[in-house]
Amino acid sequence: MDNKKLWQGLNETMHSCKALYWNTNPIAVLFCDRDSADTSKLKATLQQYYFLVLRIAGFLSIGLARYAGKAPAIEAELIRNTGEEMGSRTNGEPHCSIFERLVNSQLGFSIEVHCENKATRAFLNQMEKGLIMESPEYAIGILLALETSATPELKVVGGLIENYAQCALGKAVVNVAALDSPERAAIASAKHANNFNLEDFIVLHTIDYESGHRDRLWSAICQDINLKNEPGQLAAGFQFLLNLMDQWWVELARGCA
Ligand SMILES: [Fe+2]
Ligand SMILES: [Fe+2]
Repeated sequence: MDNKKLWQGLNETMHSCKALYWNTNPIAVLFCDRDSADTSKLKATLQQYYFLVLRIAGFLSIGLARYAGKAPAIEAELIRNTGEEMGSRTNGEPHCSIFERLVNSQLGFSIEVHCENKATRAFLNQMEKGLIMESPEYAIGILLALETSATPELKVVGGLIENYAQCALGKAVVNVAALDSPERAAIASAKHANNFNLEDFIVLHTIDYESGHRDRLWSAICQDINLKNEPGQLAAGFQFLLNLMDQWWVELARGCA
């Protein structure tokens, strides 16, 4: 199988991941009716999602360690990606800190809570275990799935934030339709990070940062790994992460039911 076909296949498998789409994400399905949305449960879901945001740089560094000295393009991209998460394009402010600050100022609650719940702990621990224990090709498949799923997942999260804002505060915060707009992202990218709002922050991710992580990681993989030898391992890691993600959101919704 050539690389192009493999990439098409991976992208197609993503469409079977229910968590990544508004009409099928288990939390979005529970709370899609704005009149009946339970805001404390929406808030709890966003707080659990934040644990993933907090762990992303750590997961990238595990991937980096797996390929240290063996894959220059992958190493360079993982370092660049981590730098971006830590603030290289956002005036030195890490993305997790921007997100935390904006939720506080626009939604009026702290997204940072002390304890992850059982479902989040299982999700993060299993991902970490896969990154460490499986083959390097499997591990990079996990990271590729994480970066590829980030754009659709953030659109769902943007929708959940908007539901919360409408129901709890009676105001609009994120126009979900704008999350596909390069023009809207250009407006955001002209701002200093201090002046971002949640819509700026999310549209920069959906249009620029996360699509960049996805495309650059895939291109680095194609440069450094002969996928003809191990297409199965990379695809298995990719699928593993999507399955974990689906399971996590199902469990989050179960906790909310
Ligand atoms: Fe980010
Ligand atoms: Fe990313």
